[in-house]
Amino acid sequence: MNRSSVKELLESDKFLQEIHVKGWVRTFRSNRFIALNDGSTIHNIQCVVDFENTEENLLKRITTGAAVSIQGTLVESAGKGQKVEVQVDTISILGDADPDEVSKTILQPKRHTLEKLREQAHLRIRTNTFSAIMRVRSALSFAVHQYFQNNGFYYVNTPIITGSDAEGAGEMFRVTNFKANEAPLDEAGEVDYTKDFFGKETNLTVSGQLEAETYAMGLGKVYTFGPTFRAENSNTTRHLAEFWMIEPEVAFNDLDANMDLSEDFIKSVLQYVLDNCKDDLQFLEQRLVQEDKSKPQAERSEMRLLEKLHFVVDNNFKRVSYTEAIDILRNSKPNKKKKFKYPVDAWGVDLQSEHERYLVEKHFKCPVILFDYPANIKAFYMRLNEDGKTVRAMDVLFPGIGEMVGGSQREERLDVLQEKMAALGIAEEELWWYLDTRKFGTAVHSGFGLGFERLVLFTTGMSNIRDVIPFPRTPQNAAF
Ligand code: 4AD
Ligand code: MG
Repeated sequence: MNRSSVKELLESDKFLQEIHVKGWVRTFRSNRFIALNDGSTIHNIQCVVDFENTEENLLKRITTGAAVSIQGTLVESAGKGQKVEVQVDTISILGDADPDEVSKTILQPKRHTLEKLREQAHLRIRTNTFSAIMRVRSALSFAVHQYFQNNGFYYVNTPIITGSDAEGAGEMFRVTNFKANEAPLDEAGEVDYTKDFFGKETNLTVSGQLEAETYAMGLGKVYTFGPTFRAENSNTTRHLAEFWMIEPEVAFNDLDANMDLSEDFIKSVLQYVLDNCKDDLQFLEQRLVQEDKSKPQAERSEMRLLEKLHFVVDNNFKRVSYTEAIDILRNSKPNKKKKFKYPVDAWGVDLQSEHERYLVEKHFKCPVILFDYPANIKAFYMRLNEDGKTVRAMDVLFPGIGEMVGGSQREERLDVLQEKMAALGIAEEELWWYLDTRKFGTAVHSGFGLGFERLVLFTTGMSNIRDVIPFPRTPQNAAF
């Protein structure tokens, strides 16, 4: 007999049908009612055991966490809270779960803190919260590919090991085959990387942008979706050392077209999960409502999760230049009352997350696209404006998240790019191939990077980025 998923059974109305299902026991009460889950949906299916005709020994092995195989009949349920249930004909235990051992883990059916769940990241996927998050994450990644594939983009796999620092921020993890303390030295006493595996210094990529740009200059519209790595020592709820980034790059797009793309893209993937993850989003919304109850009024969410997602899909993002933003911040209450940790005075300062959050959460109360930043706080590849002091950069800021997207129109003029690199001490020999794209048929082009986990964070209403990726990598933590 074909095996059905719990989801299929719950949606079925073919009563009195013989069925076969496998899953894990969430709870077993009164020696009779199994709540069974197989990951296909947030909901469990109730399986009713005829305990009088079931061997005592077998009944004892139906415990929380055990994997079971059930054959039975799908019937209309008389109980509250479910439409259908399974009358068990035969049950076999595929994998036992010793109750004493289970009681020491998060499999035990009771409320556990998110911190506790993080310590057992290999088991947390058996909880409602994590299965909901990870189904939404999966749907979002499908929606990402669907959006780009439907809009004429090609998926490009840029290298994970690279020899260049795309962001020029130097926050890279070194990749080497040298053993610690055994690295060969050159005449100057420096480590001689010409003798290393790749014959040069290499690192894990911080961004696939530079390689994606070269591909956009041939394929026209491309996107990457892959892991990126940052060795920044930021122990925050928004930073991971290993995260997934989506980077579209489009030939002939200027900054306005880039902003349009980012907004349309984000709205489209959110709409996809609204259409396809209703049960999980409803569960996550309820979770948030419960969590909010334990918080002071001021920290509670103003909107419910679904309302918030609909709000983003239905409203235009506000587009504001850096210069306008500085004016707003300078004249803001928290700035005048010296409530910002970093006071905003002069034009040219980098915006801190407290400033970004003020703009989106207090002032505009919607996603904001900030553009035309001062050149000297942004990366070398951004296109210089006519004013000579700002660049065609854009950041998309989200309530509760801060920076979701960073992008720009790229400097397509060879001489301007060379000057910029020289000023920043970036060697042309390192990026000769990048400069080639400006020599052979250069063109206006733009792109951006969206941190996938920040998108999942926003969509699920979770508050710590460690809870939206299966096995988070953060400073001092690479467990599992
Ligand atoms: O703003 P970033 O550094 O931009 C770039 O890397 C560009 N090369 C992208 C491009 O134009 N193609 O990073 C892009 C996004 C950020 O807006 C943020 O959402 C996310 O990546 N991000 C992180 N997410 C989690 N943990 C971190 N440590 C992150 N650093 C950046
Ligand atoms: Mg950025």
